[in-house]
Amino acid sequence: MMFDNAAKPQPERSGPGAGLHVAVIMDGNGRWAANRGWPRLVGHRKGGERVRELVEACPRLGIRYLTLYAFSTENWKRSNEEVLGLMSLLSRYIRAEAKRLKREGVRLRFIGDRTRLAPDLQELMGWIEAETDANDLLHLSVAINYGGRDEITRASRALARDVATGKLDPDAMTQDTISRYLDTHFLPDPDLVVRTSGETRVSNFLLWQAAYSEYVFSPVLWPDFTPQVMADILTAFGQRERRFGGVSS
Ligand code: IPE
Ligand code: IPE
Ligand code: MG
Repeated sequence: MMFDNAAKPQPERSGPGAGLHVAVIMDGNGRWAANRGWPRLVGHRKGGERVRELVEACPRLGIRYLTLYAFSTENWKRSNEEVLGLMSLLSRYIRAEAKRLKREGVRLRFIGDRTRLAPDLQELMGWIEAETDANDLLHLSVAINYGGRDEITRASRALARDVATGKLDPDAMTQDTISRYLDTHFLPDPDLVVRTSGETRVSNFLLWQAAYSEYVFSPVLWPDFTPQVMADILTAFGQRERRFGGVSS
């Protein structure tokens, strides 16, 4: 039928987050578990369920790009048990969600330095990226072993290498050149960065990319963060005036 395509629903174009790039620092899993006298990993597991729910809700909320901070370059300081538990949750998430992500139009990619991760996890990450590469409804990026300073350092090394080999002219470099060397080269800058659990710091997340993002610090612990909480944040975000250094119109 000729009009098949035109009749397809376009859920990403409506909802309070229409077309936005929302980045989330998912914080508070440990406190959520501790409040109940449970091990920290129980909080991480519950947090994983919230990820699943939020990803599913994104098309309805209108979010086009969702970037989630799952493991920072500083999180290696935690106990071996917690680090291993987080890594195993990650591979379980990929395995369990692969079919659904593919079917529902989610393109999953990872940012961060993956060279320090276990080879089987790296392989799984590469596999799901390839599997969902043709999808376009929701661009989901998960930050693993990610740190903004580490990303800028790695990008600087690559830049310097390209200058040394004559591939790049230093005088022709612009801000766009730098953006293209970052892990996020395939993403627009985030419109909104949400941090849960009441902490009001950036913790090394998207330092370059969030230069003009709006920030929302929510008191809700990540394991309690429902799609409705996100919907309310997006509605409030819609009321903000983004001036980008200019003046009110
Ligand atoms: C966020 O929750 C998850 C990761 C950083 C991996 P936390 O584990 O930081 O939880 P809190 O901050 O200790 O409550
Ligand atoms: C930030 O949370 C990193 C992630 C959510 C993955 P942390 O809990 O690690 O940050 P700090 O230690 O409170 O700054
Ligand atoms: Mg924390």
